Amino acid sequence: MKVAVLGYGTVGVGVYEMLQAAEGFEAGPVLVRPGKEDKPFKVSSIDAITGDKSVDAVAEVMGGVEPAFTYALASIRAGKHFVTSNKALVAAKGVELFKAAREAGVAFLFSAACGGGVPFLHNLARARETDSLLSVGGILNGTTNYMLDRMQGEGMDYAEALKEAQKLGYAEADPTADVTGLDALRKIMLACAVAWGTLPQEGLLNEGIDSLTAADVEDFLSRGWTCRLIAGGSLADDDSVAAYVEPVLLSRGEAECAVLRNNNLARYVGQNSGLIAMIGQGAGRYPTASAVLRDLSGIRQGECAMFPPKVSNGAANNSRESHVYYVRLPKEAAGSLPLQEVLAEDDDLVRALTEKISVKQMHEAVAALRTEGNSVFFAAVREA
Ligand code: HSE
Repeated sequence: MKVAVLGYGTVGVGVYEMLQAAEGFEAGPVLVRPGKEDKPFKVSSIDAITGDKSVDAVAEVMGGVEPAFTYALASIRAGKHFVTSNKALVAAKGVELFKAAREAGVAFLFSAACGGGVPFLHNLARARETDSLLSVGGILNGTTNYMLDRMQGEGMDYAEALKEAQKLGYAEADPTADVTGLDALRKIMLACAVAWGTLPQEGLLNEGIDSLTAADVEDFLSRGWTCRLIAGGSLADDDSVAAYVEPVLLSRGEAECAVLRNNNLARYVGQNSGLIAMIGQGAGRYPTASAVLRDLSGIRQGECAMFPPKVSNGAANNSRESHVYYVRLPKEAAGSLPLQEVLAEDDDLVRALTEKISVKQMHEAVAALRTEGNSVFFAAVREA
């Protein structure tokens, strides 16, 4: 199978090298920006790939919705199988790409877009065929897990931890999507669509770790909690899908606390299987490239789709899941949240636990407080 690669950054180089080494594959042309064609295998026009009859499949690892979407459609319509690691692309345009691929009779797979090297979506798609999936989620962002591990394990400060994660090639080109939880949100959108056929586009909520301070870390560590950024998706009896991302405080000994550095923990609960969890590197050149190659290998074995046939865009309902939240906020703003217990306070700040409130209510209340200029950190407290 001859594979063209779109993008030659951290992951693109890994995919190209792995294609050269893997039996049964041939590395085809690589699409780079105009002016960057410094080697014969590099081209700067998508036409050089879509018009090349010897190319069987296209692996897109450039990131971003455009021009990736235009190139994806062009590749699919030219009869090339299409594989991508691009979460932003599949979260925004997955249903359109799925339909285009079906019409063209080619495969559309995107394992590497959720969980890095962890074979999560592939297994989720298989599990869906024979079990009812109740929930999906876990630690789905390597950058923030790396940062949380360094901040909590070694007392590193936020900026230094982010800089290290960038240096190691885990973070997005613009790390805002990582630290605000948007990257993990895109991944949970994909998992929901694979599990239940709904790719939620509205009603989604993401809280990241960009409000976390060293003082917050010191406080919740002293209370026996460890923080992880966790994505959650679940299906209700009325078929509505919850999909959100937020920091979670866990008692030490919970499985997620043992997930260190850039690792992810991707999990699902099946009615019959119960809890299944997979841990592995969620970001980085070779782990992500290995997932791209696994998809390409799946195509050779006849695998052609991850989404169920009736997948459609939809809305998330985050009103029905509720948690107790740990919150740090200015003293004068404390009356705006339903608090059940003050944990600590000084002249300016309060640290407290809320009553059990819905995910939607909490995220919206904090958004309103921030609009008024308040600095707030919050995290759900997982019941032991
Ligand atoms: N920036 C992403 C992460 C890369 O840190 O998880 C892998 O999707």
